[in-house]
Amino acid sequence: MKKSLMLIACMFFLSTAMFAQNTYIGSAKCKMCHNSPAKGEQFKKWSESKHAKALASLTGADATNAKCLKCHAPVSAFKAEGVNCEACHGAGSAYKSPTVMKDAAQSKAKGLIIPGEKDCLICHGKGLGNPKEKDFNYATYSAKSAHKAPKK
Ligand code: HEC
Ligand code: HEC
Ligand code: HEC
Ligand code: HEC
Repeated sequence: MKKSLMLIACMFFLSTAMFAQNTYIGSAKCKMCHNSPAKGEQFKKWSESKHAKALASLTGADATNAKCLKCHAPVSAFKAEGVNCEACHGAGSAYKSPTVMKDAAQSKAKGLIIPGEKDCLICHGKGLGNPKEKDFNYATYSAKSAHKAPKK
């Protein structure tokens, strides 16, 4: 029991240390390679989504309230982007290069996150201080925010 806790603590330390140098680069950088129709227009789809407009939903004092920003604009360096690419996919400085990006395993090793339901629940879960909380259904919500490349 104690041993496994130690192991978890070590792994946590290692993973934070490994990604500590990763910094946020902003969605405009992702756009350079992820906006062509052939690849699925991820930037366009995202910019038309509610995630991209999440900061605008906060009015008055809420727009600078850390309790709201932690979900509506979690990447403070790119606050205006709301819930941006890197809020879900992880800070991009280390995985953004074309050679790394072309290799899915390398990208993950450099900090790319391919999110699943549990990652959505960090913000869409219950009792987390969201005054407009709604029921979250992964299938319907992920269909609404989908931005996959067209099938070849
Ligand atoms: C220099 C070009 C380039 C930049 C910049 C770039 N990517 Fe990529 N990305 C690629 C390429 C190439 C692939 C491989 C798949 C493909 O051809 O579309 C890829 C794949 C991905 C994948 C799918 C990986 C998988 O395993 O399925 C995700 C997610 C992704 N990129 C997110 C991002 C995000 C987020 C950013 C910005 C922080 C970003 N990319 C910046 C070129 C780039
Ligand atoms: C960093 C926090 C955060 C994460 C992570 C997150 N979301 Fe969201 N999501 C939001 C916020 C905030 C809104 C509301 C934006 C607004 O309208 O102001 C939202 C809205 C949405 C909406 C629009 C709902 C509607 O009423 O039209 C969909 C769909 C959605 N999210 C899907 C997802 C899915 C699927 C995931 C996981 C892959 C996810 N979200 C992860 C914060 C997040
Ligand atoms: C735990 C994450 C979280 C926190 C904290 C949070 N929100 Fe949200 N907020 C969301 C999500 C997720 C949605 C989208 C809910 C849905 O449509 O399913 C949302 C939706 C909203 C909406 C509705 C947007 C629309 O047009 O549909 C408003 C307004 C809002 N939040 C305001 C706030 C305010 C004000 C605060 C701070 C007091 C706050 N939120 C804190 C996650 C959060
Ligand atoms: C709310 C979280 C969220 C945001 C914001 C987000 N993504 Fe994603 N992204 C996902 C999820 C979830 C998947 C699908 C994972 C899977 O295959 O099930 C995905 C998949 C992808 C893929 C792989 C597409 C494919 O064909 O498999 C790329 C590329 C990508 N995202 C790029 C981006 C870029 C670029 C942005 C910003 C313009 C962005 N994403 C914003 C959650 C997000």
